[in-house]
Amino acid sequence: MIKIQSVRGTKDIYSSAMRNYNYIINEARFVSELFGYEEASFPIFERAEVYSRPLGVSSDVVSKETYTFEDRGGENITLRPEGTAGVMRSILSEGKINDLPLRLFYSGPMFRYERPQKGRLRQFFQIGIESIGNQGPLEDAEVIACGASLLKRLGLDRDCVLNINSLGDEESRTLYRKSLVDYLSKNLDKLSQLSQSRLSINPLRILDSKELQDQEVIYKAPLFSSYLNNLSIDHFEKVKSFLNASGIEYSHNEKLVRGLDYYSHTTFEFITTKLGSQGTVLGGGRYDGLSEMLGGPSIPAVGFAAGVDRLVMLSSNLDEASGIISILPVEEENFVYCYKLINIFRENDIKCEIFKGGNLSKNLKKISKKNRKLIIIVGDDEIQKKQVILKDLSTGAQQKIKKTDLLEKIKISL
Ligand code: HAM
Repeated sequence: MIKIQSVRGTKDIYSSAMRNYNYIINEARFVSELFGYEEASFPIFERAEVYSRPLGVSSDVVSKETYTFEDRGGENITLRPEGTAGVMRSILSEGKINDLPLRLFYSGPMFRYERPQKGRLRQFFQIGIESIGNQGPLEDAEVIACGASLLKRLGLDRDCVLNINSLGDEESRTLYRKSLVDYLSKNLDKLSQLSQSRLSINPLRILDSKELQDQEVIYKAPLFSSYLNNLSIDHFEKVKSFLNASGIEYSHNEKLVRGLDYYSHTTFEFITTKLGSQGTVLGGGRYDGLSEMLGGPSIPAVGFAAGVDRLVMLSSNLDEASGIISILPVEEENFVYCYKLINIFRENDIKCEIFKGGNLSKNLKKISKKNRKLIIIVGDDEIQKKQVILKDLSTGAQQKIKKTDLLEKIKISL
């Protein structure tokens, strides 16, 4: 029979790996709550225009990477490639404008038809925060500080550096774009095919090109900072001074434009060298124009998202024991005694599983693969003496415990 393979770029995640995912999501939920964020959940598919309008029809994400299809009712649907546009759609369509400001945390799968490689999947998990309706540079710094706190809590702060940039307001960007297009047009023949094709649709993205051929032209390109108007300079300076005051280290990277079209003012990325070419673990910025792109009023907003798959890869020694106790009856006749134990455990919120039948040493091997901490073994002798054998897999030690002392002993050992 032909086995059906999983789709390229997707991943099946089992128990201990899933614990790592949940650990990171829970830490992110906790840190975001420390910053005043509340959890929300949004659909994983939306009408296609939710993404095509604000992310830019010319952006890579929309032009090449979305999973877009017509559903059975003829509606044009896109699986969400990111969370931000859907959150803003919800604010506008669900009448949440009167409730602003809102600080929202979310997590879940995103979908991009990218070329799969280490750290790059077609279905991947993100956690994200969006601060909507909060104006001003302090909010940008707070969002960055929230990202920094999460990485610190995960023990990854030393593996990641923070790059920040300002794309300025609309006026500054229009001026800069014009000067950049002039410069790039003069150097067109030196650019790669891909960058040449981007010039008329999305010139800023050329600054982000990884093509070797483009690097010299990019290096000598006009700098964004020379085109920022006073308002944009003031905003960026304040963000930097808040970061300085919080002791958050950063580099100003003038070429940081990010792949989505909705950004203005502050953009930022936490990057690691430990994941090869897919080194961005957490990225975001201010997106004051997004609401208008979706047909809403002007709403200031800022946020970030982090790739959970990448955070899991970076956090190499997460794999904690599950907290589930495995109970092993030596013979079939010992089952009833074990079931009674199980009922007591569950009534006391102790997680457990029972191994029914099979060879004892084979079962022990299977259990050790499951990364359990405690095993309880029950044979005739134990039942007769109202005892169990408690084995601690983390130390290898095993001892006989009276049934009456078992609950206390387990609570200490887990
Ligand atoms: P993004 O930079 O496109 O931003 O994605 C955020 C993070 O998601 C990346 O830094 C990376 O860790 C992870 N990621 C992206 N694509 C993949 C992939 N194919 N495989 C694995 N991980 C991936 C956004 O999505 C914006 N919505 C962030 C934001 C929120 N800006 C403002 N608010």
